[in-house]
Amino acid sequence: MAPKGTPHAHSTRVAIVGAGPAGLLLGQLLTVAGIDNIVIEQRSPEHVLSRIRAGILECVTVDALARAGVDARLRAEGLVHRGIELSFGGVRHRIDFHALIGRDVTVYGQTEVTRDLMAARQEAGMPSVYEAQDVSLHDFDGRRPRVCYRKDGIEHEVSCDFIAGCDGFHGVSRASVPDASKQIFERVYPFGWLGILSETPPVADELIYASHPRGFALCSMRSKTRSRYYVQVPSAEKAEGWSDDRFWDELRSRLDAEAAEALVTGPSIEKSIAPLRSFVCEPMRFGSLFLAGDAAHIVPPTGAKGLNLAASDVLYLADGFIAHYRHGDSQELDLYSARCLSRVWKAERFSWWMTSLLHRFPDADAFAHRIQQAELDYLVSSEAACRSLAENYVGLPR
Ligand code: APR
Ligand code: PHB
Repeated sequence: MAPKGTPHAHSTRVAIVGAGPAGLLLGQLLTVAGIDNIVIEQRSPEHVLSRIRAGILECVTVDALARAGVDARLRAEGLVHRGIELSFGGVRHRIDFHALIGRDVTVYGQTEVTRDLMAARQEAGMPSVYEAQDVSLHDFDGRRPRVCYRKDGIEHEVSCDFIAGCDGFHGVSRASVPDASKQIFERVYPFGWLGILSETPPVADELIYASHPRGFALCSMRSKTRSRYYVQVPSAEKAEGWSDDRFWDELRSRLDAEAAEALVTGPSIEKSIAPLRSFVCEPMRFGSLFLAGDAAHIVPPTGAKGLNLAASDVLYLADGFIAHYRHGDSQELDLYSARCLSRVWKAERFSWWMTSLLHRFPDADAFAHRIQQAELDYLVSSEAACRSLAENYVGLPR
């Protein structure tokens, strides 16, 4: 028993802060490689699983989940999509990823990815602390990195070799780094996405990204019976102001006539507004602290890159830890930040471009509208332009 006032002491090799997809995937890749780790999460498992997030997986992400041994349900239930559709001017244009570059994406909700990772971690008997309060990071610039937290009124201290900050955009990890040691790059867009989930069949076999004078809309799905739809709304909008009927009417008004006709509506299971933001923190390593996923960068959802970038970071990080512990080789860890950022910035560029291409910007003048129109026309009439979109959407090589 620790004396009163002294925190309960634990030790591990890698302390992972945050049990979103980044933290859990890292934990699983390390566990598979025999590297001791703990996951410390401030919310409950139920809360983590109640968050509805995106659902498009690149091949790199599917491969990472396979390596972590958590791809069985994904292979059985995931929907392989060989392309997407762009809708504007009342017409739909298909971008055929498979024909253009021979790769595709898999539709499988992030919530399900998280559920599968949680189950695998539990099965492996690896330690996870949920509902950890006042999580704090110490001495990651020195010799004795530690993560402290309180659980059920008891203070705990985890000594470790490394800390993985996988605690999302609002987490404590990036915030623990002094301002002078990091550089932030940010763009906040003057709109958000109002999204709903409904137990209705998707309007089409593939995703439809629609650009319309009333604003952007996206028709996505989670399965053949569950749909996810979004409409662009001004930043100040509140979800409470949107009845289901108002949402369906707005969505229909932004689609081509055939899709509007085919749309099957029903009660929403979830309805929320997400702001759109581009954000990068450089570097992604500070001594023995490594940031991964949303803790280090945010992309607007238009390019479906958020989860995929998190998986890509985590693969570099897991390989760095494996080289360090197996071969005493720290070179990969030293390259971590530069490797991640090179890929992150390309995904930032693509997500910003997709966002600029498809949304209505409140300050856009007549010239800007014509340029946007010309870019859409060029895109669907040029195989080179379609190939560029396809290459980025399915994921650039690592
Ligand atoms: N201490 C411990 N855990 C924390 C703290 C904290 N101080 N702050 C936040 N967390 C937890 C959150 O509760 C959340 O469960 O960290 C987790 C971070 O998970 P995500 O936000 O899902 O981030 P990440 O794992 O990087 O996943 C990236 O999520 O937002 C999407 O588009 C994004 O798909 C991408 C994916
Ligand atoms: C989603 O299904 O939630 C989704 C799909 C594609 C995107 C964004 C979100 O670009």
